[in-house]
Amino acid sequence: MNKNKGVIFDLDGVIVDTAKFHFLAWQKLANDLGFDITEAQNEQLKGVSRVSSLEKILEWGNMKLSQDQFMEQMAMKNDNYLTYICSMTKKDILPGVGTIIDYLSENRIPFALGSASKNARAILEKTDLIQRFNAVVDGNDVSKAKPNPEVFLIAAEKINIPSENCIVFEDSVAGVQAANMAKMTSIGIGQKSNLHEAHYVFKDFTEIDKDFILKLLNN
Ligand code: G6P
Ligand code: MG
Repeated sequence: MNKNKGVIFDLDGVIVDTAKFHFLAWQKLANDLGFDITEAQNEQLKGVSRVSSLEKILEWGNMKLSQDQFMEQMAMKNDNYLTYICSMTKKDILPGVGTIIDYLSENRIPFALGSASKNARAILEKTDLIQRFNAVVDGNDVSKAKPNPEVFLIAAEKINIPSENCIVFEDSVAGVQAANMAKMTSIGIGQKSNLHEAHYVFKDFTEIDKDFILKLLNN
């Protein structure tokens, strides 16, 4: 096996099903401001930072907020989101994720988290995963939101693997674009119709077999 390969996982919608909670919390925010957001619009929010998400939502709702109101809405959205994630445990890790993480560990392939979320470390702690990652890069470590590749480039650097040797698992369009921009191999987790820019797409981790991973790692 090629030992100079590394893997980077996005968090929300890849390791845990929190993408739906982000959507519910953003939708509540929009509803409270007097408009709605659709699931299709939500696809454009996946992977995107909290600030950029709120900017997009306000644009869709044709609304302008003062700086104070903007900060207040972001805080309210996050408080609401936290109520969804507070009771998470390792039972909430998505099917198939544990198997691939075990496989990478057994074969000493380094793997990192590359998430836009400032709540990423808390979720990794709740799900007992934090110790398993060789590096964690999250929304607190980056200044540029996906599709900018910054988060993945920092993750690659932290696990000491050249970016073109990294494989990224992502559920968002912005994240797939970020991985591609970083010259990494992008694997979309979700619908082909949304994630067609990814090098490969799987519905979820249970569809990915070890031979496929082995092939990628040996490439
Ligand atoms: C992830 C999610 C986004 C979320 C962003 C910021 O990338 O896909 O939906 O808005 O992180 O998350 P945070 O927990 O910091 O608000
Ligand atoms: Mg995601």
